[in-house]
Amino acid sequence: MRIAIGNDHVGVELKQHLVKYLEAQGHEVVNFGTDETASNHYPIYAEKVARAVLSGEFDKGILICGTGLGISIAANKIKGIRCAVCSEPVSAELSRQHNNANIVAMGARMIGPVMAEAIVDKFLNTEFLGGRHQLRVDMMTKLENGGTLE
Ligand code: RB5
Repeated sequence: MRIAIGNDHVGVELKQHLVKYLEAQGHEVVNFGTDETASNHYPIYAEKVARAVLSGEFDKGILICGTGLGISIAANKIKGIRCAVCSEPVSAELSRQHNNANIVAMGARMIGPVMAEAIVDKFLNTEFLGGRHQLRVDMMTKLENGGTLE
């Protein structure tokens, strides 16, 4: 699988751990930065990974900041992105099955490397279920495009 990964200064160490972990599984991982631990701005890396995923060149994206919150909120501002913050693997699995999430976000201050591995394993290896869930994803797309469900 081709995976785009990005993070702010808080996520550097966890990102580097996951790159090694995923490459050892045979995934192709492209690092969109940062590798700097000086304070920087998570929306920059959210945008890079989001646009990479939307380009069609990558199957999935992974984002990391301190909590996973800021970087996921930023990614979700970009049309077509469904980014789910996960701190355990059940949410990661359901974000794929029900929400067809295309990016997973994690908080380097919230979880350790072993939990992050379990999260990305579920996220990358779970298919969207479609059906009634597709209807709901379509409703979200309508909202994203300025439509209303009323
Ligand atoms: C950086 O201090 C921190 O705000 C950032 O990593 C993230 O947690 C934001 O949501």
